[in-house]
Amino acid sequence: MQSIEHPAEMAAWTQELRSRGETVALVPTMGFLHEGHLSLMRRARERADHLVVSIFVNPLQFGPGEDLERYPRDPDGDAERCREVGTDVLFLPSSKLLYPDGFQTTVQPGALALSLCGASRPGHFDGVATVVLKLFNIVSPDVAVFGRKDYQQLQILRRMGRDLDLPVEILGMPIVREVDGIAMSSRNAYLSPAERLQAQVLHQALDRVEASVAGGERSTDALVQLACSLVSAQPLAEIDYVELVDAESLPPTRELSSPALLALAVRFGGTRLIDNRVLVP
Ligand code: PAF
Repeated sequence: MQSIEHPAEMAAWTQELRSRGETVALVPTMGFLHEGHLSLMRRARERADHLVVSIFVNPLQFGPGEDLERYPRDPDGDAERCREVGTDVLFLPSSKLLYPDGFQTTVQPGALALSLCGASRPGHFDGVATVVLKLFNIVSPDVAVFGRKDYQQLQILRRMGRDLDLPVEILGMPIVREVDGIAMSSRNAYLSPAERLQAQVLHQALDRVEASVAGGERSTDALVQLACSLVSAQPLAEIDYVELVDAESLPPTRELSSPALLALAVRFGGTRLIDNRVLVP
């Protein structure tokens, strides 16, 4: 496995392979890799001749007061995990190289970015879309793989791909869970034992709402209310949002008549966790 820091060197590496007719898959990450990331990498590995994994904690997608400074990092462990899944290149650009002095052009996604995390983290998806477009331009992947835990991010990136005619196939992979049901996330490392125990309510609430839909409930208000009451019963949980939105375009739905996304964002102490489930009536 090769490590590359310079965008120009990364671009030249792909161009060389391209000239030989070989394909490249990209898994963009912010590091502190866990089994969820590895599932993306394994899928990516199957879909192309070569695998590039990028690790870059992107300052543009963190708001003031968010966890940019303390975002967990494990460069040696990450390199080991990348090697294990057969990564060809670990792309490790610095902020200085991606955002040099004078940098000022950003991507602004449209309506998809206004609800859910876009509403509670203003500018977050501008930062995500900007860095992902830059990574696409540098690496020129044939395919890029993202996790469905960040469902809204995936929808926004797919839309960006279509709107800007990007020649890359964007794949979404299922959420990977810990044994206690918590969706895998680098931020789980922040949780105290008590917070971690109570955070299990997220997937429990998703299960209960899904069971309620299976039992015939179609009222959005009733389903959201059920999830809210379960989450609020945990004393350490502070709800950021609990919403049921159209699974494609993400505006709130009134009645469950087509696939909808139940999306949760809840703080446990200083840690904001997200989780979701697509509900099919
Ligand atoms: O999902 C993430 O880890 C990040 O948002 C991404 C896509 C790597 C962009 O920084």
